[in-house]
Amino acid sequence: MSRLTSALVLGLLALRAAAQTQPPSGCDPTWGNTTCLDNPALGTTLDYSFNNTLSEMDPQYFNVTAGASLISFGNDGAEMSILKAGDSVTVSTQFYILEGRAEIVMQAAKGVGIISTIILLSDTLDEIDWEILGGNETHVSNNWYGLGNTSQHNGEYPLLAGAMDTFHNYTIDWNQDRLQWIADGQMVRELKGAGKGLYPQTPSVIRFGIWAAGDPSLPQGTRDWAGGDTDYSKGPFTMKVKSVKVTDAATNVTSYTYEDTSGEYKSVKANPGDSKAFLAIHKLTSAQKAAASWSHLSKTAKIAIASSVLGVLLVIIIIYTYVCITQRKKGRAEKAIADREWERHESELMEYKRQMQKGGFAVSHLGSGEVRY
Ligand SMILES: *[C@@H]1O[C@H](CO)[C@@H](O)[C@H](O)[C@H]1NC(C)=O
Ligand SMILES: *[C@@H]1O[C@H](CO)[C@@H](O)[C@H](O)[C@H]1NC(C)=O
Ligand SMILES: *[C@@H]1O[C@H](CO)[C@@H](O)[C@H](O)[C@H]1NC(C)=O
Ligand SMILES: *[C@@H]1O[C@H](CO)[C@@H](O)[C@H](O)[C@H]1NC(C)=O
Ligand SMILES: *[C@@H]1O[C@H](CO)[C@@H](O)[C@H](O)[C@H]1NC(C)=O
Ligand SMILES: *[C@@H]1O[C@H](CO)[C@@H](O)[C@H](O)[C@H]1NC(C)=O
Ligand SMILES: *[C@@H]1O[C@H](CO)[C@@H](O)[C@H](O)[C@H]1NC(C)=O
Repeated sequence: MSRLTSALVLGLLALRAAAQTQPPSGCDPTWGNTTCLDNPALGTTLDYSFNNTLSEMDPQYFNVTAGASLISFGNDGAEMSILKAGDSVTVSTQFYILEGRAEIVMQAAKGVGIISTIILLSDTLDEIDWEILGGNETHVSNNWYGLGNTSQHNGEYPLLAGAMDTFHNYTIDWNQDRLQWIADGQMVRELKGAGKGLYPQTPSVIRFGIWAAGDPSLPQGTRDWAGGDTDYSKGPFTMKVKSVKVTDAATNVTSYTYEDTSGEYKSVKANPGDSKAFLAIHKLTSAQKAAASWSHLSKTAKIAIASSVLGVLLVIIIIYTYVCITQRKKGRAEKAIADREWERHESELMEYKRQMQKGGFAVSHLGSGEVRY
C-alpha cells in the first residue's frame, strides 16, 4: 500500500469508529460543559433467553434503538435481519454495568460486509466488543477503545470456524485488573488493567445487533475492514440470538454517578439500593415492594405506622368484644354462633400477624435483610 492509501484507510477506519460511538445517554461526562444524568444500574444478573412466545424486546430491560420491525422471534430465538441497503438493528440494555460479565449466544449472519455484534459502551466512550464479520468463515474479531480514542487500533482476529453456521457463546469478562474475551469457553484474549484511555473502566450499556459495514455508501476503509461490499441480492442476512446474560459486578446498586470529568474508574460512585432492573427481574409482588420500601423507612416512621396498625386492631377487638357481650344476652344458640365468629376472627388475626412477620412488616423483623426475593 502506498503511504497515501494507508493514511486514507486509517483515516476512514477512524471515521467508522467515530460514527458508531455516541454516548449512550447522549451526554459524555468528560465534556465538562454539563452535568449528565446518573446511569441506571443493573446491580444483579439478567439471564434472558429469546423464544417464539415473545412479541417484542422486553422494554423493562431493552431499548430497540434501530430496526424494531426487522426483529422477529422464532424457535432459534430473536432473529434480526437486514433486507436492504440502510437496514440495521440495534438493541441496547436500559441499564449499565460497571465491570462484570456479558455473554451472548448467537449465530452470526452470513454475508460479505455484514457485522453481527455485541458491544459494551460507556458514556465516556470506553468500548469493548465482539464483531463477527459475515464474510469470514475462519476468524472472528474483537476490539476495545478507551475514551473514544479512534486513533487506537486494538482489533484482534482469533480463529473460530463456523460462526455463521451454528450458535456460539461470546463472552466478555471484565474487572479492574483484566478484561477477557471468551469464545465457547476458551479465553482467546486478555487485556491487563491500565489507566483511563488505555483500559475500559466506566459504566457501560450492552448493545447487540447487526449492520452492513459493506454498504457501498460507506467509506472504502470501512468496506475493506468488513471484508468487501455487501450484495443485498444475496439477503436477507439474519443474525440469531438465543440468549443474553449480563452480570453487574456490584449488587445493591441502583445507579452510577460520575463525580468528576476525568473518566477514571475511581471517579464513578455506585449509589446503593434496588435498581429498576433488579425489581423487574425479581418480580416483586406489591406486598414485597411495600416490604422493600418499608425497610428503607426510618425507625420512627416504622414505629408510627406499626402503632397505628396495632391501634386499629385494638379498636376492632374492643368493638367485637362489645358486640360479643351484647350477643351473649341473646341466648345460647346465638352465643354459639358468636363464639365461632370469634374463633374465626382470632385465626384471621393470627394469620395477619404471620403475614406481617413474613413480609418483614412486624417491628421485630425490620432488618432490611428480612426482605426476601
Ligand atoms: C457539550 O459539548 C459537547 C461536545 O463538544 C457538545 O456536543 C454538547 O452539545 C455540549 N453540551 C452543552 C450543553 O453545551
Ligand atoms: C420464553 O422467553 C421468556 C423470556 O426469556 C421466558 O420468560 C419464557 O419462559 C420463555 N418461554 C418458553 C416456552 O420457553
Ligand atoms: C431508547 O432509545 C431512543 C433512541 O436512542 C431514545 O430516544 C429513548 O429515550 C430511549 N428510551 C429509553 C426508555 O431509554
Ligand atoms: C478472515 O480474517 C483473517 C484474520 O483477519 C484473515 O487473515 C482472513 O484473510 C479473513 N478471511 C476472509 C475470507 O476475509
Ligand atoms: C489515542 O491513542 C493513540 C494511539 O494509541 C495515542 O497515540 C494518543 O496519545 C491517544 N490520544 C489520547 C488523547 O489519549
Ligand atoms: C458462555 O461462556 C461463559 C464463559 O465460558 C460461561 O460461563 C457460560 O456458562 C456460557 N453460557 C452458555 C449459555 O453456555
Ligand atoms: C442496600 O443499600 C441500602 C441503602 O444504602 C442499605 O440500607 C441496605 O442495607 C443494603 N442492602 C444490602 C442487602 O446490602
